[in-house]
Amino acid sequence: MRRFINKVFKDSSRETIIGAPSFPLQMSYSDLDYMTKRGFLARKLGQYIGLHSDETAILFYLSFSRLSFADSDKENQNEYLIYLSEQMLKWNKLEENIPAEIKNMDVSPDIQNILLKAYEMHKTDLFALSYEKSVQENKVNVSSQMDEKWLIYRDVIYAATQEKFLLISKEEADSYRKGIVFCEGTIKARSDIPVCRNLAKASLELQNLGTSSIMSLLLVLSEAITNTIKHAEEGKMTLIKDEKNHEIRFIVEDNGPGFSLEDLPRTTLLAGFSTKQSLGQGFTLMMKMSKRILLYTSSKGSTIILTFDMNKNKGGELNATG
Ligand SMILES: Nc1ncnc2c1ncn2[C@@H]1O[C@H](COP(=O)(O)OP(=O)(O)O)[C@@H](O)[C@H]1O
Ligand SMILES: [Mg+2]
Repeated sequence: MRRFINKVFKDSSRETIIGAPSFPLQMSYSDLDYMTKRGFLARKLGQYIGLHSDETAILFYLSFSRLSFADSDKENQNEYLIYLSEQMLKWNKLEENIPAEIKNMDVSPDIQNILLKAYEMHKTDLFALSYEKSVQENKVNVSSQMDEKWLIYRDVIYAATQEKFLLISKEEADSYRKGIVFCEGTIKARSDIPVCRNLAKASLELQNLGTSSIMSLLLVLSEAITNTIKHAEEGKMTLIKDEKNHEIRFIVEDNGPGFSLEDLPRTTLLAGFSTKQSLGQGFTLMMKMSKRILLYTSSKGSTIILTFDMNKNKGGELNATG
């Protein structure tokens, strides 16, 4: 993985990997929207040629390093995949016949096939011209710059994590509190971590879940609670059973300084990223093991909501795919 990152960013120092590419916030919404789509598409192409999900995540991230990949190094697989995605989006904008353009390309049949497949999969959303319009219209409603920036991050991270990580508003966060609260605990000191863990364990054992599921759930919960102590001082946990949606939810909220929006793509996409001298594996684990992660964050605190499929955890393995 490290070798792969080095290859992408052509630098072996960890600082440079983490520092670059920096998120180009001076760009307009439409530029970022375009880079999101291009990265999304490149990631699909990466999937079709059999790249690992860590590798395709980096591919997505790389799409934000610059606006055009037209002059990119065609020998570099990652850059080439982004370039191909760029090409497809260009044809779409010009209302060209995309399959015909693909067939005219001087590339191997394998490449043609993955491009055609990506087009087939996304002709009704990504390649639909009405999609462009709806993005434009939505933009009109975005009032302040902060909202706009927040919306960009929300869209980008949501797409990059294949709809697993969603930034939400306070109101949205409250809507996830519906259901039966089956365990609660406060987190004020490091010693509260094992206390909360044991409380959660006892409550989960009453919920007709498999032993290995409970172990996994506790592991994920521990990461979230530990983050409260490490990055936010104090908070509380609430475990909810939502029969209607067949979901178990862990809500861990704190009154800490909140997440830095600029760091969020790295927090969620890059394993090993931490703003402290720390392992930075908490989010990687939470992302792997939960169905979805919802995050409300502000300078007054954060609420992180981890969701799990109830049925998939009944007496069996914890299943992240939901
Ligand atoms: N409750 C929180 N409040 C504010 N920032 C947080 C919180 N939890 C995590 N973070 C941020 O997300 C980063 C990644 O978290 P994580 O993956 O658990 O790694 P680590 O805890 O080892 O730093 C942290 O370094 C921190 O910047
Ligand atoms: Mg952590």
